[in-house]
Amino acid sequence: MQLKNIGIVGWRGMVGQVLMERMQAENDFSLGEFTLFSASATGRSVSGKMYGRDFGKILDASDLNALKKMDVILTCQGGDYTKQYYPMLKREGWRGFWIDAASALRMEKEATIILDPVNMHVIKSALQRGETTFVGGNCTVSLMLMAIQGLFKANLVEWISTMTYQAASGAGAKNMEELVAQYDCVGRGLQKNLNVAQSALELEKKVTGIIRSEELPHEHFGHPLAYSLLPWIDSEYEMGQSREEWKGFSETNKILQTTKPIPVDGTCVRVGVLRCHSQGLTIKLNQNLPLSEIEGMLREANPWVKLVPNKKDLTLAELTPAAISGTLTLGLGRVRKMRLGDSFLNAFTSGDQLLWGAAEPLRRMLRILFE
Ligand code: HSE
Repeated sequence: MQLKNIGIVGWRGMVGQVLMERMQAENDFSLGEFTLFSASATGRSVSGKMYGRDFGKILDASDLNALKKMDVILTCQGGDYTKQYYPMLKREGWRGFWIDAASALRMEKEATIILDPVNMHVIKSALQRGETTFVGGNCTVSLMLMAIQGLFKANLVEWISTMTYQAASGAGAKNMEELVAQYDCVGRGLQKNLNVAQSALELEKKVTGIIRSEELPHEHFGHPLAYSLLPWIDSEYEMGQSREEWKGFSETNKILQTTKPIPVDGTCVRVGVLRCHSQGLTIKLNQNLPLSEIEGMLREANPWVKLVPNKKDLTLAELTPAAISGTLTLGLGRVRKMRLGDSFLNAFTSGDQLLWGAAEPLRRMLRILFE
C-alpha cells in the first residue's frame, strides 16, 4: 500500500502540541501530505506558517468521508473520540493505519502497543500480519521500560516493584494548570500576612490552612496537590489496585509480548511536579551478576537512557524532574544492590511524561510506516 495522506486529530491539545513540535524538529512533515482535523476549529485555514509549514484548511474531525481519505490517522484527541470514530471508520471499511495516544484500544487484540526502541520486533511482526492499529503505551510503563531496557533485553527481570512519583501533566493540561494555580493561591495567601513574624511552624500552619480551605482551586484534582501528594491515580481496579497500577503489569507484558508474564506492581502517586514522571524501582533479578556488568547493560540499552553514577552530587544535579523536563533523556540512577539480597537491585528513574511517555512513540511509528 502506497502511503501518502496523513491526518492528525487533536493537535491543539497538550500532547498534540508536543507531538507537532517534535515532528517539526525531526522534519517528519516531509513524509507525506498532512491534513489537520479539529473538533472545534473547522473550515478555517491555517494562516501563515505553523510548525514550519502551511497546512491549508482545517477539516472537521467528525467528517467520516474526509477521514476515510487518509492512509494514516494519528490521533491525540482522547479516548472518547477513539471510541466513537475508530469503530465507525472500521464499519465503513476504512483500512488505513490508526496511531493513537489514548488508552481506549490498548488492550484490544487488534492493537499493538508501540515503544519501538523496546519492542520493534513486536511492531514489525504486527505489520507483517497486516495489522493497522498502533497505540502509545501508558506513560509510566513506557518510561520504566525505556529506562531499564538493558535488564529486559538480557532477560534478567524476575519481578519489579514500582513506586511512582507522577507529574500533574499525566492527568491532563487542566490539571497541570491547576497545580500551578494551587501553588499561586498559597503564595498569594501568604503575601497577605507578610507583616506577621514567620517561623517555619507559623508558615506551615498558614500553608496547611490554605490548602485545606475552599479557596484552593481543586476542580480537576478534587484535592490539594500543591504541598501534598495524591496516592491514588485513575479509577479503582481489582484486588485493591488502582487502574494505573494494573497497567504496570498488563501493559509491560503486552509491550514485551512475554510468554511468562513478569509481575509488576507498586503504588502510583501523584506529586506536585509538572511533566516528569519518576519511579523508585525494586527489581528482583533472576541472577546475581556484578553491579558493573548490570550498569553496562543499562547504559548501552538505548541512546536515550542516561545512567547517573550513584553519587549524591550527580544524582541531585542530574536525576530530577528539574533537570530532565523537556528532554528525551531517561534519567536512571541510584543503581545499587540492596540489603534485601544480592539479586535485588535498587534504581530510580525520571523521564518526561509528554515526550517518551506520550508523543515520541507516535511520531516514530509514523516513520516506521513510511520507512
Ligand atoms: N495515566 C498517566 C497519569 C498518564 O495519570 O499520569 C499517561 O499514561
